[in-house]
Amino acid sequence: MEFEKNILCIGAGYVGGPTLAMIAYKCPQYKVTVVDINPERIARWNSDNLPIYEPGLDEIVKAVRGRNLFFSTDIERGIREADIIFVSVNTPTKTFGAGAGMAADLQYWEKTARQIRQYAESPKIIVEKSTLPVKTAHAMERMLQATNNHVHFEVLSNPEFLAEGTAIRDLEYPDRVLIGSRETPSGLKARQELVEIYANWVPRERIITSNLWSSELSKLVANAFLAQRISSINSITSLCEKTDADITEVARAVGTDSRIGDKFLNASVGFGGSCFKKDILNLVYICRYYGLEEVADYWEGVVKINDYQKERFVLNMLTAMFNTLAGKRICIFGFAFKANTGDTRESPAMFVCKLLLEERAELVISDPKALENAKEDLKGAQGKISYVEDPYEAVAGCDAIAVLTEWDIYRQLDFKKIYGSMDKPCFIFDGRNILDHRGLFEIGFNVFPIGKPPLTHLK
Ligand code: UDX
Ligand code: UDX
Repeated sequence: MEFEKNILCIGAGYVGGPTLAMIAYKCPQYKVTVVDINPERIARWNSDNLPIYEPGLDEIVKAVRGRNLFFSTDIERGIREADIIFVSVNTPTKTFGAGAGMAADLQYWEKTARQIRQYAESPKIIVEKSTLPVKTAHAMERMLQATNNHVHFEVLSNPEFLAEGTAIRDLEYPDRVLIGSRETPSGLKARQELVEIYANWVPRERIITSNLWSSELSKLVANAFLAQRISSINSITSLCEKTDADITEVARAVGTDSRIGDKFLNASVGFGGSCFKKDILNLVYICRYYGLEEVADYWEGVVKINDYQKERFVLNMLTAMFNTLAGKRICIFGFAFKANTGDTRESPAMFVCKLLLEERAELVISDPKALENAKEDLKGAQGKISYVEDPYEAVAGCDAIAVLTEWDIYRQLDFKKIYGSMDKPCFIFDGRNILDHRGLFEIGFNVFPIGKPPLTHLK
């Protein structure tokens, strides 16, 4: 069959894989190829055991793989054949040199630009999917044009707003698709070409266009605002705990103001995920680069509150459990950075577990999807750790449970049975406020929610 267009994506990660699978699913007229330097990842995309867990993803991949969706390691061929190239390689926080711990590490990004330049023989539209510092497109243009003068490249910015766990729904029914371009005739033409791809399933009024820099910056700002809401509500939890106010009641009262809105106001042990911290630090770094110290400090506060919240959680555990955790067995309910994903990048659980190990607690980690990653993350950690998927088995003989991911299964457990199998006194620290605290207290647990008065039997 003849395809109308060849679309390539470089980087088969959490963003590239699902996004391009959706394009292939909605647009049978295009041939979509996803390439990656990691052959194991590609092998898994071509198997029944996909490299990422995302509700609904298996069905979509099965429906289109081999029809118009292909996974490959042949980057060179992919580039040669493509009309449009999405770039979705990782852009982690730099760990070395200037801007270490803050700025985005653009080495993979630049390497990809060089590969495109080397192999491209016909005009290409390059689409930035990865989250990047504002003005990266300009660097990309210069890199692409440095030697390959006879081939025209048009760089677009099309940041991805999907959240993990709901990636398929977010891709199918996005709040908006954002496309930034140069406002030149060729830039506008390329922009229109990308609009037409999304218009195969996204209503036109949801496809927003802008200049390149607004688009690049909007992605950083959207993530910063979302994270800021969580830090705002979390900052109030400590005050609630001091004053007998209840954070759930405060969040409801505040969130019913339609100007504020009720989403993203769930108090927690802290936000995690591969994006929030990285993108805010990137924003902070850019502000400092331009000499905007006050602006940088303001946004840095969002990350500081998040670190404070995670430390505070462990300190609360320590204080509640008579100021010593040494030798105590603590069961961790949930290691993923949020429910419905196996992803553990920047998971608050990792941070909490490391602090608990420093206190010489023994850990039994349970999670329905993230144990493989948890083992990897805690590989070098000192201390006694075991990994048990079944929550009933995991809690047996433990002194305390810490709920760190809001998995539904934890709401439905038989806590009477659990209480019976634990050491006494029993503690529950609900880092997500998802359990029935009163019910647990009545069973006999000492219950420590976030931002609410504790319920305890201890005098
Ligand atoms: C990435 C970025 O980290 C994020 O900033 C952006 O918003 C979206 O893209 P993600 O998809 O979660 O996020 O990253 P990851 O799962 O690490 O996938 C990146 C993939 O790119 C990996 O599979 C990696 O092997 C691949 N890669 C990396 C290449 O194919 N070529 C390279 O040169 C480098
Ligand atoms: C986020 C953005 O939502 C998405 O638009 C962007 O493309 C990538 O970054 P993601 O990291 O997948 O997506 O998950 P998200 O649902 O935003 O949650 C991030 C973290 O915040 C999780 O650890 C989550 O548990 C926490 N969170 C979220 C809260 O603690 N409280 C809330 O009310 C909401």
